[in-house]
Amino acid sequence: MRYKKSPLHEQPFRGFSPLNNSEPEKKKSRSIKYLNRRIISCKLCQLCETRTNAVPGSGNIEDPSVVFVGEGPGRNEDLKGEPFVGSGGKLLDELLKNAGLDRKRVYITNIVKCRPPKNRKPKPDEIQTCTSTYLEKQIEILKPKLICSLGATALQYFTGEKKMGSNHGKLLKALKSDIPVLATYHPASVFRNRSLKNLLQSDLIKIRDLTGQKEALHSSK
Ligand code: URA
Repeated sequence: MRYKKSPLHEQPFRGFSPLNNSEPEKKKSRSIKYLNRRIISCKLCQLCETRTNAVPGSGNIEDPSVVFVGEGPGRNEDLKGEPFVGSGGKLLDELLKNAGLDRKRVYITNIVKCRPPKNRKPKPDEIQTCTSTYLEKQIEILKPKLICSLGATALQYFTGEKKMGSNHGKLLKALKSDIPVLATYHPASVFRNRSLKNLLQSDLIKIRDLTGQKEALHSSK
């Protein structure tokens, strides 16, 4: 079976009008819920054939300071329909907490919303279809101050850069939007190289400092 752009894919996205900062929170939430319904029934690429559940994303919809973007769901995420709930997710939770970042105040999603079989890398056409149909819309609706790319696939998608070593922890210019990107290592890479844990942790602390999230948490007490 060939997966072509469907007529739906070619249509302008319906379900929300162009948003601005005064957009009522309720409308943002409706737009994300509408997009999520489209994601969970998506058949635009071959990944729909092998998924159990599509994984739209989770977290703060109203006012996320940061949107974290990984590569694509793994086995646990595919089973639960939630991003970063496996071992990489547990490590991410721990490092976010250590940095004073609250997972409930940020939004977490992926480049592709369906698990690639055997956790292979998503193919360029899958990335193109999924990001142009969903990720771009998510970011347009959520309007974060900052995007944090987790791992090389997200780094390359947002900035065109390939080397994590020389780019992580820096504020980078995004190719397609005005929202700055801070690149860091994928949590799963820490299981292959333990020395990356400290680098990932210090990048998350930079994100906390850049977005002022710790102060926001304290001042809300
Ligand atoms: N790896 C990812 O890139 N995303 C997830 O949601 C889980 C693991």
